[in-house]
Formats: sequence, C-alpha cells, structure tokens
Amino acid sequence: MKLFDVYPVNDITITKAQGSNVWDDKGQEYLDLYGGHAVISIGHTHPHYVKRLTEQLSKVGFYSNSIHIPLQQELAAKLGKISGKEDYQLFLVNSGAEANENALKLASFYNGRKKIIAFKKAFHGRTSLAVAATDNPKIVAPVNETDNVIFLPWEDQAALEKAFQENEISSVIIEGIQGVGGINVASAAFLQKIRSLCDQYNAVYIADSVQCGYGRSGKFFSHDHAGVNADIYTMAKGMGNGFPIGGIIIAPKFKPVYGMLGTTFGGNHLACAAALAVLEVIEQEGLIANAAAIGDYLITELKKIPQVKEVRGMGLMIGIDLPDELAHVKKELLFSHKIFTGEAKPNVIRLLPSLALNKEQADHFLSAFKKELANN
Ligand SMILES: Cc1ncc(COP(=O)(O)O)c(C=O)c1O
Repeated sequence: MKLFDVYPVNDITITKAQGSNVWDDKGQEYLDLYGGHAVISIGHTHPHYVKRLTEQLSKVGFYSNSIHIPLQQELAAKLGKISGKEDYQLFLVNSGAEANENALKLASFYNGRKKIIAFKKAFHGRTSLAVAATDNPKIVAPVNETDNVIFLPWEDQAALEKAFQENEISSVIIEGIQGVGGINVASAAFLQKIRSLCDQYNAVYIADSVQCGYGRSGKFFSHDHAGVNADIYTMAKGMGNGFPIGGIIIAPKFKPVYGMLGTTFGGNHLACAAALAVLEVIEQEGLIANAAAIGDYLITELKKIPQVKEVRGMGLMIGIDLPDELAHVKKELLFSHKIFTGEAKPNVIRLLPSLALNKEQADHFLSAFKKELANN
C-alpha cells in the first residue's frame, strides 16, 4: 500500500531527539526551532515526560470516559492553577481542529445562534466547522461550505461592530497570534473590543490558543497580554509535547448536559499523563518565563538585522519577514546550517522552538542566520 501523498516532505529521517536537538539516520545533528510545528513545548524526550508516560503505560494506557479517570481531575486542577483560570471547566479531545469544532458547537448550543465571526488569514483546523472558519478556500471542500461564517478584516473594529449589528452572532473565534497566517499579533485594543461586543450581545469569545497558547507567548495564553478573559480557550499542540491531546477550557457560565459533547479517545490515561508531565516541567523549570526572556532577546536581535523586513511575535512565536530575493534562506538554514524553522507564505520564517530553548541555542541561530544573509 502507498501513502496518500499530501505532504511535500524534506528528504530527512529523524531517528533521535533530545531537548532542542534532533539527529537524522546518518547521525547529523540539527537545531530544532520548529518543534514539529509548535508541538514540542518542553523539549524532545524530556526525562520526566518519558518516565511519566512509561510508568503510566505499564499501569493502564486507555479506558473510555465511562469510568472515573482521576488523572483528568488532576490535569484540570494543575491546568487551572498554571493558567490562572481555576473556575473554568475542562473538556479533553485529541487535536486542535477537534478543540475548535467543540468550542464552536458549544457556543451555538449556549446561545442558540448560528453565525460565527472569523478573521482573514485565520487557520482553525480541517474538520467541518473549523475549516469553514479557516480563510483558505483551497482546503474547504464543497461539503464544508457554509454561509454561517463571516470573515472580517484583521484589526478592523468598525467592521466588527457592524457585523454584530447586522447579524445574530453566536461566537467570535480568533488566534491571539495568527500562526499559519504569518505570525500576526492581535492588539490588546482589538481583543478588548471583541470582549466587550461579546458581552453586549451575549456572544461567545473563543480564543484559539492551539498554537499561541500553553506558554508560547510568554504568558499562558497570548490573550492574557490583553488583560481579557475569553469564554472558551482551545488548546492542543504544546499540550502533550507530541502525544496527541487537545482540550477546551470553558467559563463557568456554560452548564454541561450529559451527552452534549463526547469523544472516545479524549482524556485517556496516557494522554493525561503526557499533559501532566508537560505542566509539571513547565512549572518546575520556569519555561513560560524562559519563553518570554529568550523570545524578547531573539526579537530584539532580529530587529537589528538590516536585511529583515519585519519581525513579529511574542515569546517563542516569532515571524521573520524577508524580502522576495531572500525567500530561499529558510532552505539554506536547514540544509547548510542544519537548523529547522517553520514557514508561512509568502516569505516568513517562523520560529516555534521548545519553550526551553536557551541563549546559546538562540545565539547559534542568530549567527547562522546572519552568516546566511551575508552570503546573499
Ligand atoms: C491556530 C490553530 N488552530 C487549530 C489548528 C489545528 O490543529 P490540529 O492540526 O491539531 O487539528 C492549528 C494547526 O496548525 C492551528 O495552528
């Protein structure tokens, strides 16, 4: 059987990974500033993570949500404490799209409405509602097309107000920092406006924190920088450091009803063990403060480089906008300098490393990047 060929891949096979480094099958070492797309939060194969998962696997790996799973309660308590959202409720799923799908659905159950506001360049996943709220017609199948999603320009407060006046809005879904869209940071004023309009019209503010959440921005949720509380936060990527787990945290005003949401795999024993290990390491090693400090350092240094058009981001979610003639630099970083980075169209290099990235590793990247730019 052949694989269904939907991914353009780099000709590299990774066989070993540790911290912010990976090695290929020929023993070549790489610096990983991509983290498999913002997934590696505490570093590859962290010893505490490996121990917790291994121990859990030899006890019980999976049972369904038809019995008590105390690890879920433990995870909810820890997540509440670290995120500062102790009065919220946790519903566990397996991926980012699924988290957004459930959030949009819950919002509609809550206020009985259908219209969703999403923004230009948004990416929310590939399941039916999540992809309908994603601003990329190429990945929306005819069956996913709906007039329930209204796309508005980014940061346009007047358009937002008008949409609320003219439609019965169920929810607004927004990434605090757009990832796939090229690292665009929502301003505090814009997020505050969303909060006040959602309050005024009893609509639901959904903070898609799948990529920008879990400490990556230097605060637990990037929306925290604006001093607002969303009604629902969606999470995945960094939550399990590679073990598939996602979740939504839900404000107290939402009342659960048996059968309203459900999942077979979500919240299983192994996934909870992975998520707990991640939060324990984030707490013990001060990784959110580290993301803020190393992120600030990288952003400051990158802004000094004359060939760079613009640097955007917060913490360890950084976009480096390059002019067209330097579009090939990302490939050179990988193949000549052995550094993995992410990308966004047209010419944005995305840095999404582990939150444990240290200054030496940041300096290694900066010097390779400057060297590569000097060669052009
Ligand atoms: C902001 C955002 N939301 C949702 C998703 C979808 O997550 P998943 O691929 O886990 O379904 C992604 C994935 O890149 C994302 O960046």
